[in-house]
Formats: sequence, structure tokens, C-alpha cells
Amino acid sequence: MQTATGTVGQRPAPAPPSLRTPDAEPVVTTDRLTKRYGQRTVVDALSLQVRRGEVFGFLGPNGAGKTTTLRMLLGLVRPTSGSATVLGRPAGTSVAQVGALVEGPGLYPYLSGRDNLRVLARYAGVGPGRIAAVLDTVDLTDRAGDRFSTYSLGMKQRLGIAAALLKDPALVVLDEPTNGLDPAGISEVRTLLRRLAAEGRTVVLSSHLLGEVEQICDRVAVVASGRLLVESSVEELRGLGRLVVDADPLETAVAVAGRLLGADRVSVVDGALHLQAAPGETAAVNRALVTAGVGVTGLRQEARTLEEVFLQLTEPGDPPPAETPGRRPRRVGRSAR
Ligand SMILES: Nc1ncnc2c1ncn2[C@@H]1O[C@H](COP(=O)(O)OP(=O)(O)OP(=O)(O)O)[C@@H](O)[C@H]1O
Ligand SMILES: [Mg+2]
Repeated sequence: MQTATGTVGQRPAPAPPSLRTPDAEPVVTTDRLTKRYGQRTVVDALSLQVRRGEVFGFLGPNGAGKTTTLRMLLGLVRPTSGSATVLGRPAGTSVAQVGALVEGPGLYPYLSGRDNLRVLARYAGVGPGRIAAVLDTVDLTDRAGDRFSTYSLGMKQRLGIAAALLKDPALVVLDEPTNGLDPAGISEVRTLLRRLAAEGRTVVLSSHLLGEVEQICDRVAVVASGRLLVESSVEELRGLGRLVVDADPLETAVAVAGRLLGADRVSVVDGALHLQAAPGETAAVNRALVTAGVGVTGLRQEARTLEEVFLQLTEPGDPPPAETPGRRPRRVGRSAR
């Protein structure tokens, strides 16, 4: 596995089979996509791929550059350098096949949900026939005659997604689609987005909330300060767990593990060796320690929540992987390229 810190002989355990084929054709490709505002680089050489039919989460703290990146994918912001390809064409040129909810759809509070969609459909050059279909998709048919202002936040969000679906797009781009929703609202959006993916559409969404992304997405890109930290499936990201080893002598164990994994993945906590390692690396660690004459009396993998992984990756003290020459953002498991 190629990691930010070196190559380990053993590959991590394969993730559970996914409905999505790993080699599915990319719907979005960015190549060193960069945006600078004055001296500030807000998106920094971002290279990633989104595959057809997946729900892809763009995850990062406030100010990470998520909205700016989505706007570049939509052709609303011009990159400073690098490029983005969407549905095989330069970003911003496949407008007819891309539905987006980035700025808020500008819905009129005093119009009904259906009338709002009528206005937007006319504006987008879409026939009125699509309106019933998208209302059905977002499960708002029963309330379509009610004023938008009387909708719950979750219903408003779903109507926004309905608006993004009017053009029957192959790619749906949603900026923070679950922002402000309660667990029931998130669950509704989740069901809706899964349905879109099942129909063969690709969904790219941004979020700063891990819990949501964990529930909704197939794969994620974690970004902070404009840089890609990890691109991975959710399962694989969680699999980058902590390996706790009781070893003697500890100093030798630290040195051996450091050589194998890189010193920044090794620490000592309460007299035990703590390694940042995927489950598939356990055997290689054990073998290296034993070969070096270290007694291993305990070896256990502690699964981490995605939240722990995220906090660790986005910790301000952590040097961003892409900063040092020769270091690359971590691509985990099957997504390794
Ligand atoms: N038009 C602009 N001019 C100058 N700076 C900008 C502009 N648009 C965005 N930025 C800056 O770019 C950085 C990233 O902003 P962006 O909105 O992309 O972040 P984000 O990840 O979407 O954050 P949030 O989670 O808060 O929505 C911020 O520091 C922001 O101030
Ligand atoms: Mg944003």
C-alpha cells in the first residue's frame, strides 16, 4: 500500500464488495485543480475522481474550499490553474446534464412547491412533464400545492433537490444538502440520494459533518485548507485504525515499527506501542517485530470512528501530506491509484 509515509509490503484487507465497480468510468476528474484569491490558495492542487453511480462526499471543515471546488466543477468559478473534467468535457460545458444545488435554488416563499418548480422549469427550458416526476422522486407530491413558506426545513431542502433534478441530470452536485436537518431529515435525504444513485446518476455532495457523510456516501474526499488529505471509501477510511502492541523491549519495537510504517505513524501510550495501521498491516508488523527479536505479548486492532479519523487528518498540528515534496495524499485500499 502506498501511503503518505511509505510502502508497506502487506495490502490492507479488501473492503466488502461494493455495488459500484472500482473501474467505473469517472464522471468527474480534477487534475491539480487550484484556486487562489489574492495571496490565499483556497483550493490547492486537488486531484480526484468521482465514478459513475456513486454518492461522493466532499468532506472538510468550514473554509476548506468545498464550495469553491463545487463552483469550479460547475463552471461558476474559473480555476487559477489545473483543470476539471465533468462528464468527459471541460467543467462548465455540460450544463444540460448537471443538476446543482449550490447557492440555494432561489425559491419563492409565497408560491407553492409545484409553482416554484414550474417557474424553474420554464427558466431551464424543461417541459412541465418533469415536474410531477421530480415531486414524486423527492416525496413531495402530497404537499406540492402548499406554499413553500409552510414547508419544514427538510421539505425545503428536498424541493431544492427536486429543482436540481428537473433537467434529468446524469450528475447532481449538492452543497451541504443536509445542513440544518435533524436525523429524520438527514435520513430522508439519504434515502433520496441513494435512490438517485440507484437510478444510475452520480451524486457529489459537500459536508462538514462526518456522521452524514458516513451514512450517505460510498466514497469521500477529505479536504482541509484546500488540500486533499484522503480519497477513499468510507469503510476503508474507518479501517485505517489503531494497532496497539504490547512489546518488549519497547525501544526496539518503536524503531522497527518506525522503519516499517514511518515514524509519524508510531507513538507510545501508557507503555504500549500505538500504530496507525490498517487491519491488513497487522501481520507485517508482527512479523517485523518478531524477526527483530522483540517479544510481542499483545496485539489488537482498535477500530476508530470516522470522526476520530477525520479529526486526526484535519488536526491543525498535522503536517498536510501534500506539502512535503514526494509526499502524496493518502489513497486507501482499492481506491489506490
Ligand atoms: N470570492 C471569494 N473571494 C475571496 N475569498 C473567497 C471567495 N470565495 C471563497 N473564498 C475563501 O475561500 C476559502 C474557502 O471557502 P469555501 O466557501 O470554498 O469553503 P467551504 O469548505 O465551502 O466552507 P464552509 O464549510 O464554511 O461552507 C475561505 O477562506 C473563503 O473565505
Ligand atoms: Mg461551503
